[in-house]
Amino acid sequence: VVSPKIAPSMLSSDFANLAAEAKRMVDLGADWLHMDIMDGYSRVYNSLCYSGRHFVPNLTIGAPVIESLRKHTSAYLDCHLMVTNPMDYVEQMGKAGASGFTFHVEVAKENWQELVSKIRSAGMRPGVALKPRTPVEDVYPLVEGETPVEMVLVMTVEPGFGGQKFMPSMMDKVGYVRALRQKYPTLDIEVDGGLGPSTIEAAAAAGANCIVAGSSVFGAPEPGKVISLLRTSVEK
Ligand code: DX5
Ligand code: ZN
Repeated sequence: VVSPKIAPSMLSSDFANLAAEAKRMVDLGADWLHMDIMDGYSRVYNSLCYSGRHFVPNLTIGAPVIESLRKHTSAYLDCHLMVTNPMDYVEQMGKAGASGFTFHVEVAKENWQELVSKIRSAGMRPGVALKPRTPVEDVYPLVEGETPVEMVLVMTVEPGFGGQKFMPSMMDKVGYVRALRQKYPTLDIEVDGGLGPSTIEAAAAAGANCIVAGSSVFGAPEPGKVISLLRTSVEK
């Protein structure tokens, strides 16, 4: 029931040529475009007195960029919100033309039901992400609840930056989420971080069907070959 979705992470693209980069990826066979929205904290400041106001030590793009890009592409914009207050961004992301809105479970323990229904009302597809150190059980209620998410994103690196090393130990989590598919057959399972030709087999075997790949696609001499290799591995 779930089909492969290959989602190049635009974090590795040339931001100054985002529209052209998006078109290039779609022309090369990308199903989705993965957009990393990060709220930025200073590592130095963080170690001294982290206030919990920010989620990751990097600052990328926001809704205005999604809005601009939307004018140039009809592609599914798979937005991954690495922000401490996802609720604050639902309305603007919906208006900007985001397709999927994936928030982190670590910052939505109390209000996820309201968050999910707001994401739906804003016309987007809700997803939940979890960091490497977050137990997989934390996302079960969001899959099994009355207002369920439609995708679980298992982070396979610490969120914040592209080009990090894939964590194979996260495949156990993917396996547990896949078991939920017996009851929720349309549930998408996405993996994000360090995916490429050398790691795709593990992710595909564990049951992931949505594959985010940044540096392995954009850094390849022939990105189209990497995209089709990723798809073939998921289809197997
Ligand atoms: C990391 C981001 C990823 C990142 C993946 O926080 O969520 O989407 O761009 O990049 P690669 O594929 O290079 O690990
Ligand atoms: Zn991401």
